[in-house]
Amino acid sequence: MKLEIRKQKRYQIGRGSKFLYDSLLILVILFFLVWRGVGVGVNWGTMASHQLPPERVVEMMRENGFDKVKLFEADERILRALIGSEIEVMVAVPNYMLQQMSEDPDFAVAWVDANVTSYSYHGGVNIRYVAVGNEPFLRTYTNTYLPFTLPALKNIQSALDRAGLSPHVKATVPFNADIYFSPDSAPFPSAADFRPDIRDATIEIVHFLRSNASPFTVNIYPFLSLYSNPFFPFDFAFFDGDNKSIRDGDFVYTNVFDANLDTLVWALRKIGCGDMEIVVGEVGWPTNGDEHANLENARRFNQGLIRHVLSGDGTPARKGNRMDVYLFSLIDENLKSIEPGCFERHWGIFEFDGKPKYELDLKGSQENKGLVPVEGVQYMFKRWCVLNPHAHNLQDLPKSIDYACTMSDCTALGYGSSCNHLGVQGNASYAFNMYYQLQDQDSWDCDFSGLATVTHEDPSDDKCRFPVMIARHRPVVFHTTILGILIAVLEGCIVFLLLVS
Ligand SMILES: *[C@@H]1O[C@H](CO)[C@@H](O)[C@H](O)[C@H]1NC(C)=O
Ligand SMILES: *[C@@H]1O[C@H](CO)[C@@H](O)[C@H](O)[C@H]1NC(C)=O
Ligand SMILES: *[C@@H]1O[C@H](CO)[C@@H](O)[C@H](O)[C@H]1NC(C)=O
Repeated sequence: MKLEIRKQKRYQIGRGSKFLYDSLLILVILFFLVWRGVGVGVNWGTMASHQLPPERVVEMMRENGFDKVKLFEADERILRALIGSEIEVMVAVPNYMLQQMSEDPDFAVAWVDANVTSYSYHGGVNIRYVAVGNEPFLRTYTNTYLPFTLPALKNIQSALDRAGLSPHVKATVPFNADIYFSPDSAPFPSAADFRPDIRDATIEIVHFLRSNASPFTVNIYPFLSLYSNPFFPFDFAFFDGDNKSIRDGDFVYTNVFDANLDTLVWALRKIGCGDMEIVVGEVGWPTNGDEHANLENARRFNQGLIRHVLSGDGTPARKGNRMDVYLFSLIDENLKSIEPGCFERHWGIFEFDGKPKYELDLKGSQENKGLVPVEGVQYMFKRWCVLNPHAHNLQDLPKSIDYACTMSDCTALGYGSSCNHLGVQGNASYAFNMYYQLQDQDSWDCDFSGLATVTHEDPSDDKCRFPVMIARHRPVVFHTTILGILIAVLEGCIVFLLLVS
């Protein structure tokens, strides 16, 4: 794009017009500066059995134009891969560290030194946020993290101040949207308040964030509104429905995302912090594991959201306000807990192997080029583990399926999911294969007392994919060590031969 503009300039302006040239250049630079920060971010979680090489993933993010990424820890290999990329990064202190972080200021200093300061040099990693905890006030945590969150946030903030990073790096706390609500008697954003049991703690945190010019971060999931409420108006979960709207005073809401975000805006207004900057830390739609989780709905939601963000319209209560959102998520994670639902392992815009699941236009350019996959992915052999067609005694089949599924991921078999149509035998094959692939295709792991056998014919159909796992990515050190040992052995042999002869 940059090149094209420059070319045009040469033809149109011709010789001599230095002033025009400079102004144009400044305009172009300004355009890129403004445009850069307006893109959407993405969450990169790593709860997967087989990780893609982080360098390749970063390359893919850059090619697709994701210019912000949110992490759930401060994984050294990922941070190293981000060096020099200019992608804005949110690193995170995981919940299990909150207690120690709250009790020990030195722990916070060491954490910030190792995980933020050491990357924050010119040309290093563009770390902009430290997330302190992840949804610490989630109702299901029953206030476990309530006493630790603010003290941990304060210690991280002090550590950032001490390192001289605080003007550039902001500490924040990603909250779940269940910390605020509108009462059933007045289900409108303007009737909002914070949840009573954590109200005081939340207000304290809001004031602390505000005094440091840090944003309030919230995770919003219209999919979960639909999932948890059979009477939820389907189209209202998306951004293009036109037959359902909520009127709240002068404001009209046509999608639940805006209504939810404005519920937060009103809750903040009521405590005198209506001007707080808000970051949407997670928002997205899964593609499998529920009747509403499929490619079509995920694309409809995410594309609608991206258009909404890029339009700059804001929400009714914050008209024209730029929205800062991080999609959830980049890549599927097959080790996530499925307690909330089978969809948990299918939030990725990309499959476990880095292939895009559907087209998504991140820049609103309407070009529909499609997303670029992760390049150079290595797979294991093209073989699958399936139900042995010659197996007679199927008595133990249910037990074997159960075992295979418990140890791997059968979330695609459930009701409304992509492989729900397989039938008993297909179910068995799917379960055996998932187990076999997760065990790196070890021949011991395709037996199940003779019930299973390896095939070289892909058992997938149009809807249900039987995956072949990606090869385990080993750090380069591993290869160089082996190479080193080989060379040493070879040298030893040569020396020995020389001595003998
Ligand atoms: C850096 O962050 C990671 C992940 O949160 C953590 O495991 C590690 O202990 C941190 N380093 C220090 C020195 O605290
Ligand atoms: C809303 O519109 C969709 C089509 O856009 C239609 O399928 C659906 O039945 C409508 N729902 C209501 C409640 O009118
Ligand atoms: C296959 O497995 C899924 C998930 O356990 C189940 O819902 C479905 O009923 C099974 N199909 C048959 C034919 O047993």
